Amino acid sequence: MRIIMLGAPGAGKGTQAIKIAEKYAISHISTGDIFRANIKNETELGQKAKTYIDQGLLVPDELVVDLVVDRVNKADCENGYVLDGFPRTIPQAEALDEALAKRDEAIDYAINVEVPDENIVRRMSGRRACVECGATYHVVYAPTKKENVCDTCQGTLMLRDDDKPETVQKRLNVYHEQTQPLINYYTTKGNLVEVDGTMDIEDVFGKIVEVLGE
Ligand code: AP5
Ligand code: MG
Ligand code: ZN
Repeated sequence: MRIIMLGAPGAGKGTQAIKIAEKYAISHISTGDIFRANIKNETELGQKAKTYIDQGLLVPDELVVDLVVDRVNKADCENGYVLDGFPRTIPQAEALDEALAKRDEAIDYAINVEVPDENIVRRMSGRRACVECGATYHVVYAPTKKENVCDTCQGTLMLRDDDKPETVQKRLNVYHEQTQPLINYYTTKGNLVEVDGTMDIEDVFGKIVEVLGE
């Protein structure tokens, strides 16, 4: 099963992608996580990406396309994968389709997690990420067992640099301009799945499972 998660920043792509990957035993690939790991390790890619990410802008297509195409050709993707945060532009989607077609493969579902902008800003201010493993929580909607301590690795939690309200607004604008057109792209291809992302995390997941199957 090959799945794409679509949705605004903070819509819950990552939250749902992790649950999908676990249930269907497929790989979870988050380009945002890959960039953040590279920034943390101060790689060349990380340094390049950081200048864009900190401003709420998209990293240029040429820095992300080859990285994802290489990644989905790895052995742990044979059973399938859920792409979280890619594609984000029409050229990225076309490049992915082309690369998959060469292997007689295609995307099965593009799941759009729909959340209005008003809700997003509220969600982002409550998001906390683990500095060690990147796990994501929310102070109200997905709290840790112990305050400010990661449930899985005991790492410390912090606010993501790009979750400041002014950067969130910028990311939303970029989303509407550059990423939202993908909804039409996948509707035309016939594999768009719309899910109401304003419901509780478990209810959103329930809707997704209804489509993907038990
Ligand atoms: P990325 O890390 O992908 O960020 P994003 O798309 O802005 O999305 P987020 O990770 O912020 O949100 P999410 O939808 O995963 O929501 P989450 O599940 O965390 O990318 C970061 C940056 O990297 C980009 O801005 C760009 O610069 C660059 N980049 C990455 N990929 C790129 C690409 N392909 N091309 C170019 N540049 C790229 O949930 C949010 C919060 O809400 C959490 O606290 C969660 O606990 C909570 N929550 C989740 N679901 C619910 C619910 N149903 N109810 C209540 N709370 C909920
Ligand atoms: Mg995410
Ligand atoms: Zn952790």
